[in-house]
Amino acid sequence: MAIAQTILTEGLADEIALVDAEADRVRGEMLDLQHAAAFLPRVRIVAGTDVLALTRSSDLAIITVPRETAAASRMDQLRRNVALLREVMPTVAEGSPESLLLVVSNPVDVLAYAAWKLSGFPSSRVIGSGTDLDSARLRCLLAEHLDVGAQDMQAYMVSEHGDGALALWWSIRVGGMPVLSYLQKTHSLFDAVGCAGEVIGLKGYTSWAIGYSAASLARSLLRDQRRVHPVSVLAKGFVPGDTHEVFLSLPARLGRRGVLGIVGNMSKLLRDLIQINRR
Ligand code: 2OP
Repeated sequence: MAIAQTILTEGLADEIALVDAEADRVRGEMLDLQHAAAFLPRVRIVAGTDVLALTRSSDLAIITVPRETAAASRMDQLRRNVALLREVMPTVAEGSPESLLLVVSNPVDVLAYAAWKLSGFPSSRVIGSGTDLDSARLRCLLAEHLDVGAQDMQAYMVSEHGDGALALWWSIRVGGMPVLSYLQKTHSLFDAVGCAGEVIGLKGYTSWAIGYSAASLARSLLRDQRRVHPVSVLAKGFVPGDTHEVFLSLPARLGRRGVLGIVGNMSKLLRDLIQINRR
């Protein structure tokens, strides 16, 4: 709902279809959003439980199978969410064969892979929200420390969303200026990875920041912005060597056709990541 609300507020879609297994709850959410019509650009909002009827001919399908709770282990989530994707993906693909897919459920890299396999779509049209959110959190922490607006803070995290996310230290800049040596001198520590756990511990789940992250990905995709986002993509083909079919976050250029390419020298990126991992 946070994603739908942000997409609505930012005027990114003419029509939003909300699909959920709980008919009453999703109807309640739909009515609540519809009642905000007087404050927003005109958007048709529909909702219900029928995936095929509601999502037919979508430009972008955002998959948000149940949110995470503090109690569920990653493996529990994986089993449950893959089972849900098995039910939903073939129907989404049948009704919207040209759609882009954005997976925003955990474990996101594995679920993006599952969505790719189950949809039968070309990998360029399947994206996981990946480390876009981890990067935003790092930028937010650094911006606060350096007392600058977070939008002028550049910092990328790549690899796996969550505990396995890795910061590309050389990407940290403010207004184009490198600040890493300054941060090293001041011995500053930034826990961009622990942020989610803290929020989940406090309110039970995370929602607002991922809502903005997913909406910014939707903007780049639907509006053909060709912006670079660290998102989960099929690494094979982008990363040199004998890479298996895995989804992991790399700095990807996003446009109307999905993943248009990866930015940077992947051999160097991979080498550096392996070194960081070893350390
Ligand atoms: C997040 O990082 C829980 O993966 C979710 O907010």
